[in-house]
Amino acid sequence: MRIEPASAVEGDIAVPGDKSISHRALLLGAIADGESEIDRFGASKDTLSTAAAVRALGAEVEVEGDRVRVSGAGLRGLGEVAAPLDCGNAGTLMRLLPGILAGQSGRYELVGDDSLSSRPMERIADPLRAMGALVETADGHAPVVVEGGTLRPIRWELPVASAQVKSCVLLAGLYAGEGPTVAVEPHPSRDHTERMLEAMGARVRRGPKEVAVWPGERLRPLATTVPADFSSAAPFVLAATLLAGSKLRLHGVGLNPTRTGFLAVLERMGARIAVFNRHSAAGEPVGDLEVEAAELVATSIGPAEVPALLDELPLFALAAGMARGDSVVTGAQELRVKESDRVETVKDVLRPLGIHIETRHDGFRVRGVPSRPRGGGVVDARGDHRIAMLGAMAGLVSREGVELRGAETVAVSFPDFFPMLDSVATR
Ligand code: S3P
Repeated sequence: MRIEPASAVEGDIAVPGDKSISHRALLLGAIADGESEIDRFGASKDTLSTAAAVRALGAEVEVEGDRVRVSGAGLRGLGEVAAPLDCGNAGTLMRLLPGILAGQSGRYELVGDDSLSSRPMERIADPLRAMGALVETADGHAPVVVEGGTLRPIRWELPVASAQVKSCVLLAGLYAGEGPTVAVEPHPSRDHTERMLEAMGARVRRGPKEVAVWPGERLRPLATTVPADFSSAAPFVLAATLLAGSKLRLHGVGLNPTRTGFLAVLERMGARIAVFNRHSAAGEPVGDLEVEAAELVATSIGPAEVPALLDELPLFALAAGMARGDSVVTGAQELRVKESDRVETVKDVLRPLGIHIETRHDGFRVRGVPSRPRGGGVVDARGDHRIAMLGAMAGLVSREGVELRGAETVAVSFPDFFPMLDSVATR
């Protein structure tokens, strides 16, 4: 796909519902007692993998545009399946679902695509085994086989912050003895699971770095409106910041503080982002954003800040490339085990376009030049949706544009990304 440079982005948009919350609404809806209603569901390849998985397990799921109904089977009511559960590209599905399956009575196999099959899975297998489940991986990777059983509560210290691992432990904690099951993190990761469990009536206790959950008899069904995905909003926020003359409004964006690190970092760099109409929807903070172009100065990001902008670090690299001064990211070794090795794929996209980026084992260093990067040539998304969106943004703000290979991979999280981009870009 050819990405032409733009002079500005302008207008009003509402990006689709949050992917993390949409996965969780399906998974928790499937084990609730009764019918859950989910509005503004973020339908994408990833979340449709979750819909198919919970259907295969016996929960009824009706998807009508962005409205979803799930008839829950109850905490222990999921059925046995003949075929492996296909998680596609969805790490959240492959890491959260085993927490629930460990509390059922069947034997389940989870498989994924090539990218997902190369990602580490012992990080969820270990705590589930410690709780008493039988879990097998293929040398630490998918296929993951889970056999449920009688679970005991644990206190699990995560070596690296991970919302997926934390959530897996908490979900298994719904089935574990008398409880509580506790997940402890070095830095807080996104807390959508905790918020949703609380909204469904589970007993949850939260501290600054740990969360405890107790088993219960039932979860109440959800009636929820999913906020717009901050991670899908982020490329547009960046484009409006970098392109002079831009003015973009983004409506109903999820502003959970465990997700909005990119806003805080951009503001520190000098971005002009106003938040208004703050309210809460389904236990999550939401608001509208108005973004105007600004000149940026460099900044550095360390381990404590990383979890709150983990998926936006590729976009941060582009922002840093056009800021005045040197920016450094440390403590982001998790980037290396995402849908691609995002330390390397970010460098491979940005460097040929004229951005000065050096990689480190746990992040990168960028020497900013406050003008449009040259662009030109071909960049490859390497099967990673966030890298495809980075490539698109880099082309948009460059002088010569780019040819983007593998653009279709945006459908993993945001199928209408390119039409929405076309609707706001002035060329
Ligand atoms: C997610 C958690 C994050 C993030 C991923 C979605 C989630 O991964 O990168 O895109 O929905 O829980 P971690 O498990 O590394 O926090």
